[in-house]
Amino acid sequence: MSASRIGLDSLRAKVMSAEDAATLIDPGSTVGMSGFTGSGYPKAVPMALASRIEAEHAAGNPFRLRVWTGASTGPELDGALAKADGIEFRLPYNSDPIARDKINRGEMDYFDMHLSQVAPMAWQGFLGPLDTAIIEVSGIRPDGSLIPSSSVGNNKTWIDRASKVILEVNRWQNPALEGMHDIYYGTALPPNRVPIPLVRPDDRIGEAYFRCDPAKVVAVVETDSPDRNLPFDAPGEDHRAIAGHLLEFFRHEVARGRLPASLLPLQSGVGNIANAVMSGLVDGPFDNLTAYTEVLQDGMLELMEAGKLLTASATAFSLSPQAAAALNADMARFRDRLVLRPQEISNHPEVIRRLGCIAMNGMIEADIHGAVNSTHLMGSRIQNGIGGSGDFARNAYVSIFMAPSTAKGGKISTIVPKAPHVDHINQDVQILVTEQGLADLRGLSPRQRAEVIIENCSHPDYRPALKDYLARARRDSYGQQSPTLLNEAFAWHQRFVETGDMRG
Ligand code: COA
Repeated sequence: MSASRIGLDSLRAKVMSAEDAATLIDPGSTVGMSGFTGSGYPKAVPMALASRIEAEHAAGNPFRLRVWTGASTGPELDGALAKADGIEFRLPYNSDPIARDKINRGEMDYFDMHLSQVAPMAWQGFLGPLDTAIIEVSGIRPDGSLIPSSSVGNNKTWIDRASKVILEVNRWQNPALEGMHDIYYGTALPPNRVPIPLVRPDDRIGEAYFRCDPAKVVAVVETDSPDRNLPFDAPGEDHRAIAGHLLEFFRHEVARGRLPASLLPLQSGVGNIANAVMSGLVDGPFDNLTAYTEVLQDGMLELMEAGKLLTASATAFSLSPQAAAALNADMARFRDRLVLRPQEISNHPEVIRRLGCIAMNGMIEADIHGAVNSTHLMGSRIQNGIGGSGDFARNAYVSIFMAPSTAKGGKISTIVPKAPHVDHINQDVQILVTEQGLADLRGLSPRQRAEVIIENCSHPDYRPALKDYLARARRDSYGQQSPTLLNEAFAWHQRFVETGDMRG
């Protein structure tokens, strides 16, 4: 391959500036971008597009796009386009603060969806046509196939579905990524679906490259820009306590013969807590671990570095700048033990169920019956999105949700009488963990769950009020399967909205 990383002459002839490439996108069109949790997103064309949109708006011309991605991206994509007021509709996951504000002000529509369902739904046609795919790759091979970069996400689907393709070839991406990816081309719509032939987390069932018809490529832009992820918070006392309770639970399950000594494939969600729990496993007694997960955060790599984690499968990296630098310096050592797949496979319900994953995800809050809210603050304000938590929670061998028992300096209890928004119904929530303790909800009725959750997980500042609520609900509720006081269930949230503190 040439130094420019573009191995096909006909595509080298399509190299142009990001500004020129941005002129190929029409107002009102739908754009499918690469990118997943701050990795592998296009960095130059979206910025050029944002400048163009600002200029069009200044001239009084409307210019907004429908933007599809794998998951969250980076400030050069979601941030820049949202700031330019260039996004009218966004799917399937966002964590950009500017876009979040726009969504919460009602200025941008956001379809927050299960990540495994994006590609099938695009094929089913429900999402409408896809005009342009803008995909970051590590390189273009002489046969026109594409070397993926630090995330796979929905790229295969966007390249296949889009009428035209713009490629960003990013020299910053490590050339040693080549060979790490496993792009499976065997998915189909019913009635032609067949089993996904993946029976171990590190099985390779596809190809290392994206297929791409060079005739569809309208522009190639060369870049040299890093993925931009934020550092994780150093694990605090609460996070370490949560990790400790989980380790104890795993030890107990192994002792009872309900989990093998090397556990089952781990899935670890996004965010600081999930990352801290992975770091906690470094000091645990479990060896020969595997991971079948959505993103590889710093904690996973620490586990691998420590010799505890043998192999890991995901759809993307989501690393702090320091961890990304460390990985890039030593990629060859990790490459054979990591697999990056399309998100419809990394999050595939059939595969998650077959492998028996241990799903560990963060939450905003849980209610006393065990329903979990992962997405909305005070029932209405989006934080990020459901991401892959639903794909994993419903299909896991053990489904675990975790959070500190309070948020915002104690002004919010994360264990509440009733969740004002539910992403995971109580049947999909088996274990709840806070720094206070762990509630094993398997086999318990809602009435039994309420007692264990309040006793084991709630913060002492809120526990008496929760017990009082439960006692009165058991006396006055319309029914006793899931005792609820309708006129009080959301009173804590209402109080927070009015006074900034849930405490009376
Ligand atoms: N009410 C209001 N705000 C709350 C809250 C609650 N009950 N619980 C947490 N928050 C706020 C925190 O204060 C923090 O706000 P800040 O950024 O302004 O400081 C923010 O939410 C993030 O909380 P944090 O404690 O740092 O946790 P985290 O980084 O581990 O993230 C989730 C927790 C739930 C937001 C995150 O896990 C998520 O987005 N999950 C959904 C997607 C998912 O699970 N994906 C995994 C699939 S593989």
